[in-house]
Amino acid sequence: MKYNSNDFIIRVANEDDIPEVMEVNLRTLPENYWYGFYKFVLDRWGDIFLIAELNGKIIGYIMNRIEDTRDPVLLGKENELSHNKEKKKSFDNIMSSLKNVFSESHKVGHVISIAVLPEYRKKGIGTALLKEAISRMKDNYNAESVYLEVRVSNNDAISLYKKMGFEEVRIIKEYYRDGEDAYVMVKIL
Ligand code: ACO
Ligand code: ZN
Repeated sequence: MKYNSNDFIIRVANEDDIPEVMEVNLRTLPENYWYGFYKFVLDRWGDIFLIAELNGKIIGYIMNRIEDTRDPVLLGKENELSHNKEKKKSFDNIMSSLKNVFSESHKVGHVISIAVLPEYRKKGIGTALLKEAISRMKDNYNAESVYLEVRVSNNDAISLYKKMGFEEVRIIKEYYRDGEDAYVMVKIL
C-alpha cells in the first residue's frame, strides 16, 4: 500500500487482480486485451501495474510498459507499423521527438491503458494512478519520457494528461479500429 488519499488506495497489481482489471477495462474502454496480455505485462513490469482499490474493490487501474529506443520491443514495433505508412511516419516522429537517440539507450515509459469506473471519476483517482506510475517509471527504470496514445475525442483523458504535463506531439490517422485518430502525447521527465 503505497499511496493513500481520501478513501482509495493505490497499490501494485497481482495476478489475482487480472480478472477484475479486465472487467474494469471492458466496462470503460473499447480497447480490450486478452488475459495473457495482462499477465505478460504484469510479469515484466509488475511494479508499474497499479490498481486503485476502494473497500477491497478494484475501481481503476493503470498498465504500463517500459520501452527502450534500442529495444527489440520498439524495433519490432517499427516493423509492425511498416505496412502502414502513416503509422510508420508517426512512429518515426515520436522517436525523433524523444530526442533523436536511436543509437543510444533511452528508456521510454508507455502508458498502455488507464481507466477508472464511471461512478468513481472526478475524485482524483486517475491523477493518483498516473502520478504514481510516472514516478515509478522514472525511479525504477530511469525513464526519461513517457508517452501514450489517446482518442482525439477523449476530452476527459486529454485534459488529465495535459494537467499532468503531457503535450500532444502528433496525430496518428485512423489509429483505432473504428477509424478514429489518436493523439500521441509525451511528457519529458
Ligand atoms: N473533486 C472534483 N473534481 C476533481 C476532484 C475532486 N476531488 N479530483 C479531481 N477532479 C477533477 C480533475 O481536476 C479533473 O478535471 P478536468 O479534467 O475536468 O479538468 C477530473 O476530475 C479528472 O481527474 P481525475 O479525477 O484525477 O481522473 P479520473 O479518476 O476521473 O480518471 C480517466 C480519468 C482515467 C481518463 C477516466 O475519465 C476514465 O476512466 N475514462 C474512460 C477510460 C479512458 O478513456 N481512459 C484513457 C484512455 S487513453 C489511455 O489509456 C492511454
Ligand atoms: Zn500505446
